[in-house]
Amino acid sequence: MNRPTASDLPLFSALEQSRNRVGFHMPGHAGGKGFASWFREAAWSFDNTEIDILDNLNDPQGAARRSMEQTAAIFGSAFTWYVPSGSTVGLKTAIGSVVPAGGRLLLSRVAHKSIIHALAELSIEPLFLTDVMRDDGLLPLPLAPIDTAGYEDIDAVIVTSPDYYGRLIDLKPFVRFAESLSIPLIVDAAHGAHLLVDPHLSKKSALAAGADLVIESAHKTLAALTPGSYLHISEKALASGRVNNERVQTILNVYQTSSPSFPIAASLEYAAWSLEKEGRLLHRKRVAEIEQFIASLPESIGAVRGSDRDPLRLVLDLSRTKMTTRRFQAELMHHGIDIEMADFRDLVLIVSLHQDPADFSSLLNAIEAILHLPEDEAKALDEAKTMAALTSDVLLTPPSIVCSMRHALFGDVKRQLVSIEEAEGLISSSVVSPTPPCIPLLWPGEIIEKKHLTLLQNVLPEGRMLSVIVPESVSEDGRHSC
Ligand SMILES: Cc1ncc(COP(=O)(O)O)c(C=O)c1O
Repeated sequence: MNRPTASDLPLFSALEQSRNRVGFHMPGHAGGKGFASWFREAAWSFDNTEIDILDNLNDPQGAARRSMEQTAAIFGSAFTWYVPSGSTVGLKTAIGSVVPAGGRLLLSRVAHKSIIHALAELSIEPLFLTDVMRDDGLLPLPLAPIDTAGYEDIDAVIVTSPDYYGRLIDLKPFVRFAESLSIPLIVDAAHGAHLLVDPHLSKKSALAAGADLVIESAHKTLAALTPGSYLHISEKALASGRVNNERVQTILNVYQTSSPSFPIAASLEYAAWSLEKEGRLLHRKRVAEIEQFIASLPESIGAVRGSDRDPLRLVLDLSRTKMTTRRFQAELMHHGIDIEMADFRDLVLIVSLHQDPADFSSLLNAIEAILHLPEDEAKALDEAKTMAALTSDVLLTPPSIVCSMRHALFGDVKRQLVSIEEAEGLISSSVVSPTPPCIPLLWPGEIIEKKHLTLLQNVLPEGRMLSVIVPESVSEDGRHSC
């Protein structure tokens, strides 16, 4: 067969082009560099079905079970499920296995969209933690409740740590809170699989802190294929009966494909094994390179740092430059450098344990060149500040749900597509969450306000329509029906 042209195989062609770029983003294998050649060469041929000599990832009894047990021993859990369909499925599985349909879950407004989808699917009532904004990232962080009064009938609590900015919250008060109610604490640690080898933060990682169910996207920070994820169950969770592993398996089988990928599962095994073998050394090297990089940064670029932050999450504060983060990100792209995310103030870069040290020089050269470009107009800079403030406002306010999430997302309602400008006063029929960080700005069933529209006009691609429900009636006390 002749080599196809770009128009024959457009995705293949785009992927081929992406290979020669510098990446400061997931996946953690850094373009395959994290895999030893013997693994890389063999992995594609592992794609197979559950033939007799192989095990079944959804019902592991042989090699897959031994592998998951070995990985559990590395991470210090009682059992670790390989979830080759992402933390999205791991989170839904964790929630579904400890919160009954119609139950109650305590969570932060700032939750990944998979959590909101689980709430909608299972008609789970959300109760909101108090979130607070800090000046080291544009996402709020949750506070643990001071006591259990008023929370007696919740079924579980879920928090995220570390977050997209690499910030860890103190999990101990959440552990105490959950233990005093005898309910499970679930931690969305999608960004934290590598913390095991961080000499300072490993003790503060979710399993070490005493969480019951911990979900880690190995693909984000380790040498694992996308979307390989771990679902860890702690010793304490099983011993206390707060979590039942058979129940976890049952729910995993609800959400996970019946054909889970062996190559991804093999990479989950490889990621844990190689992290244990060489992770500490690689971590030391990368942290030293980051320190050196930060010391060489031009004065106008700030590196956001702190003791409870993942040092491999490089957050660059551009507020002292006269360029918007969006423009800066685009200019980096022109220099062949892709980063994980830009919010309205910071650039967020993920440094892989397997990052090529030369990438830091490329990044520094590009930053210096970009700072010589013409500045952005004051209007654009002011607008970014306004949008940053609006993001906080939206994310610090619990959603005003006027129509049940389940009904809005799955029910027999009349949905229509409208432009963002037309959506004020209507009800969102889905999660609306820019990627990354996949934190919903609108929840299904939420009434759409002016502040949402202004923000969405800025963060969604031009011309994007919203799926909405027109409220059927509004009663005298202002309640909507749908
Ligand atoms: C905080 C958080 N949780 C969960 C997920 C879902 O992870 P996955 O992509 O492995 O499904 C993400 C993905 O970005 C995330 O940022």
